[in-house]
Amino acid sequence: MGREIVIVGAGVIGLDTALLLAERGHGSHITVVAEHLPGDTSINYTSPWAGANFSAISGGDTNALRWDKLGYESMMKLAEERGVEACIAKTQSLEYWDKMPPRTKIDSMAGYLRDFKILPPSEIPAGCQFGISFTTITVNAPRYIQYLHNLLKDKYGVTFIRQKLSKISAAFSSPSTRIVFNCTGNGARVLEGVQDAKSYPTRGQILLTKAPQISKNVMRHGEDYETYIIPRPQSNGNVILGGFMQKGVSTGDTFSSESESILQRTTALLPELVEGGMEVLAAFSGLRPSREGGARVERTDIQLDGTKSRTLVHNYGAGGTGFQAGLGMAQDAIRTVENELSKLSLKGSRL
Ligand SMILES: Cc1cc2nc3c(=O)[nH]c(=O)nc-3n(C[C@H](O)[C@H](O)[C@H](O)COP(=O)(O)OP(=O)(O)OC[C@H]3O[C@@H](n4cnc5c(N)ncnc54)[C@H](O)[C@@H]3O)c2cc1C
Ligand SMILES: *[C@@H]1O[C@H](CO)[C@@H](O)[C@H](O)[C@H]1NC(C)=O
Ligand SMILES: *[C@@H]1O[C@H](CO)[C@@H](O)[C@H](O)[C@H]1NC(C)=O
Ligand SMILES: *[C@@H]1O[C@H](CO)[C@@H](O)[C@H](O)[C@H]1NC(C)=O
Repeated sequence: MGREIVIVGAGVIGLDTALLLAERGHGSHITVVAEHLPGDTSINYTSPWAGANFSAISGGDTNALRWDKLGYESMMKLAEERGVEACIAKTQSLEYWDKMPPRTKIDSMAGYLRDFKILPPSEIPAGCQFGISFTTITVNAPRYIQYLHNLLKDKYGVTFIRQKLSKISAAFSSPSTRIVFNCTGNGARVLEGVQDAKSYPTRGQILLTKAPQISKNVMRHGEDYETYIIPRPQSNGNVILGGFMQKGVSTGDTFSSESESILQRTTALLPELVEGGMEVLAAFSGLRPSREGGARVERTDIQLDGTKSRTLVHNYGAGGTGFQAGLGMAQDAIRTVENELSKLSLKGSRL
């Protein structure tokens, strides 16, 4: 019962995948199996540590551009229809680049970002070559995943099980399971069955501060650094300051030297932070589940113990963009199993 579809992982990617399936009527077919669930904190669970916002940070390849666009449009809709419950808000965002970003990326963003404007040189900081202003979405990351968790359980009848799987085939332990979605984030590196050598963590450190006077996002993309300021929705004036993008670094520790660097860079970028009074509440670090060549959203059919073939859909490697691109990735992941899903809904309606 309810294990026709198994989703491994309860980070934003697994939850977004569950949400789109549930909205299509499959809620009672779904079991989410995960070592960590919303509310937990662990260095092996990235989602609660995100800023999070939509930003132009992702790569310029066609998949990333498409997932960003799909994600932006769905999150915007969510912000307008259920913003307070979901802890998502629309915010003005300013982004600056030290080096000119690729043209394909600017053209793609100009096509869908609301209130998109290229800033004149007089409005960008010294040392930057390019800047834009647009309306972004900001997400209170820990509360958004909690919101999805509750919605999936209470409204859609999705089952959640806390369990660490030692290998991929364990997800198929129930004979009724037809489709498994693999949304294991950094877990993809080590899980037996498909250890993915292309997966690696990208560590970030952030500061949680209180600065209620800040109402817009500001971000500066350097060649080897990222500086950002993101007000967190429904949080009584909390603002996230960052950050770092450290490829291959996997410690969950935080470092005072990095906190200093974040404070120095963010206050230089937005002096309003100190002028209005800012309190540093905590430092955190998180590991973005990155992957060479970008996220893997792909269907494979696997054979277990000589039985008939089963369907496994990979959806991991979102790197620094799981919140902004997650709904887009989930749409693509689900599209690979349309045929199997149509069989499930037929069966469901006959019961
Ligand atoms: C500092 C920081 C800032 C960020 N800011 C942003 C931002 O502003 N915007 C944005 O879009 N993104 C941002 N990100 C990136 C975003 O957080 C990630 O892309 C996203 O959280 C990845 O989600 P996930 O579901 O793939 O992985 P996770 O959240 O890590 O979830 C993985 C899930 O799989 C489970 N799992 C793994 N292995 C197993 C196993 N063997 N058995 C059972 N369960 C298993 C885990 O328990 C967990 O439930 C940021 C990240 C960091 C660190
Ligand atoms: C995180 O995952 C790694 C790899 O599986 C493991 O070695 C480590 O013990 C885990 N850390 C924690 C705090 O769970
Ligand atoms: C803002 O968004 C980008 C891309 O989604 C992300 O990588 C960056 O870390 C975010 N900043 C914060 C504070 O979350
Ligand atoms: C998920 O994918 C990763 C990477 O390919 C692999 O190591 C892991 O075994 C898979 N897990 C499941 C449950 O499919």
